[in-house]
Amino acid sequence: MSVLICLTRALCVLLVGVVVVVTADAATAHLRGSRSKPTATKFAREDAAPAPPRGWNSYDRFSWNVNETQFLTQCRELAKLKQHGYRYCVIDFRWYQDSDTQEYSFDSYGRPTPNPKKWPRGFKPVAEEVKALGLEFGVHIMKGALKPAILKALPVLGTNATLKDAVDESADGPCTWFPDFVGLKQNAVSAKFYDSIFQQMVQEWGVSFVKHDCVFGGPSTYGEPGGWAQIQMASNALDKLVTASRPRAIYSLSPGDYAFKPQRLTEVGNYANMARLTEDVWDNGGFFYDSFALAAAATRVSEAAGLAHARRLPFFADLDMLPLGIVGGPDLPHPTAKCNLTAPQQLSMMTLWSISRSPLILGADLTQLDEFTLKVITNPSVLRVNTDVGFARGAPVAVRDMMSVWSVDYEDGTYVAVFDLSGKGLSGITVGFTDVGVGWGNTQCAVMDCWKDDCEKSLSGGGGGGGGGATEMMTGSLYVPEVEAYGVWFVKVTNCKIVS
Ligand SMILES: *[C@@H]1O[C@H](CO)[C@@H](O)[C@H](O)[C@H]1NC(C)=O
Ligand SMILES: *[C@@H]1O[C@H](CO)[C@@H](O)[C@H](O)[C@H]1NC(C)=O
Ligand SMILES: *[C@@H]1O[C@H](CO)[C@@H](O)[C@H](O)[C@H]1NC(C)=O
Repeated sequence: MSVLICLTRALCVLLVGVVVVVTADAATAHLRGSRSKPTATKFAREDAAPAPPRGWNSYDRFSWNVNETQFLTQCRELAKLKQHGYRYCVIDFRWYQDSDTQEYSFDSYGRPTPNPKKWPRGFKPVAEEVKALGLEFGVHIMKGALKPAILKALPVLGTNATLKDAVDESADGPCTWFPDFVGLKQNAVSAKFYDSIFQQMVQEWGVSFVKHDCVFGGPSTYGEPGGWAQIQMASNALDKLVTASRPRAIYSLSPGDYAFKPQRLTEVGNYANMARLTEDVWDNGGFFYDSFALAAAATRVSEAAGLAHARRLPFFADLDMLPLGIVGGPDLPHPTAKCNLTAPQQLSMMTLWSISRSPLILGADLTQLDEFTLKVITNPSVLRVNTDVGFARGAPVAVRDMMSVWSVDYEDGTYVAVFDLSGKGLSGITVGFTDVGVGWGNTQCAVMDCWKDDCEKSLSGGGGGGGGGATEMMTGSLYVPEVEAYGVWFVKVTNCKIVS
């Protein structure tokens, strides 16, 4: 009853304010009721991605001009973050386009091929090097096929037909923001074309993550015109490539839209592993207006539909790459510069992405990671709430005024995140234990601040030991300390007992 949707930035803010007053209690009750305890074995057996995928994508730093040297340098740095779960090293768009002449490379079957100046050895040896680092290799593809290949009427592999028999000649065909790619209509020839590009990527090159762009996003029922057909054909093509030794490659949909309808996740959740909720997120603070409400709505929709656990594939709503560290460069709407978010904003971003179980795809230049950014992206409690261990998942328990509260239960405690969305900071706030599913008014718990201390150290003797200064005993409610503008208080609530 209280799904929050941002029709525009202004309206989203308004809805947050209104919904709160009317439905905070009802929403809380509903969410608590819908929390399920899925069976971990089923989840682990059936999926290629038990946790939201983590890794690095070339776009935020290199736009479309990344080459083999630069890419492998970043992958080598990513390998140092492997123990924190970051393992997909992904090339973003236009890898088949020449940086000087702008010409496209494609083979005799119309399939995009790596530009020989940027990728002199092609992708296979690059994928091998990435795998040798213990990582996985990913690429970006666009909607449909390249216009120059269609105009040449190139044959589609495995058919007697050509791309002209596949192309969607209606107004829905061309990608709205990159019209050199044109969508395909849903027929046998088009399906074979999608089969042929996925077969090449997965079997010949060794790709295990595919970001499919210009097929999703947009506020209408099916987003990008003609996108739904592309998604189904691509997903079917990937399914055919699963073998005993090769799990299904991760299939990621892009872009999103700030007017996104989270209800659509119930459709794409059966076909993809992740789908973007928003337009490109940069470090300008815009996500405070959009991403919280969208992530909350997406979480509710996914839970209601059982998408997170029960379906054929695990599915995650994607809040976009993290523009933390040094990002930006030529051909990007951002100069090469340090993340412009304040420290509290960066902690909020990382906490929201994690607790809403978004994929964590870094955008930073990993060769220049500073100590602060490294701490932000490797905090063990934050990464833990991003990973489903099968007990519960993050759910927004209340959005009051301009504050958002999320919680997630684990065997050894409940993690709670209280975010300031007002930009004025929080003070004098209490959140009842019952509101976050911890206990009752006469429950006393140890509350440890996980951005200040290591919450994964076990607390000794049920008291305030172990964690040191950032642990406090609280009874009945969380007494939220002062939170800076757009900051977050992220705590682990543990060792609870009833007091009289
Ligand atoms: C990639 O670009 C860098 C920086 O311009 C350059 O030094 C390097 O030689 C290039 N590598 C390839 C394979 O083109
Ligand atoms: C292509 O045409 C040849 C000759 O007519 C035929 O033998 C073959 O089965 C056709 N292949 C496909 C995939 O339709
Ligand atoms: C950086 O942040 C400040 C303060 O939030 C903002 O006014 C400015 O526009 C931002 N700059 C960029 C490039 O996003």
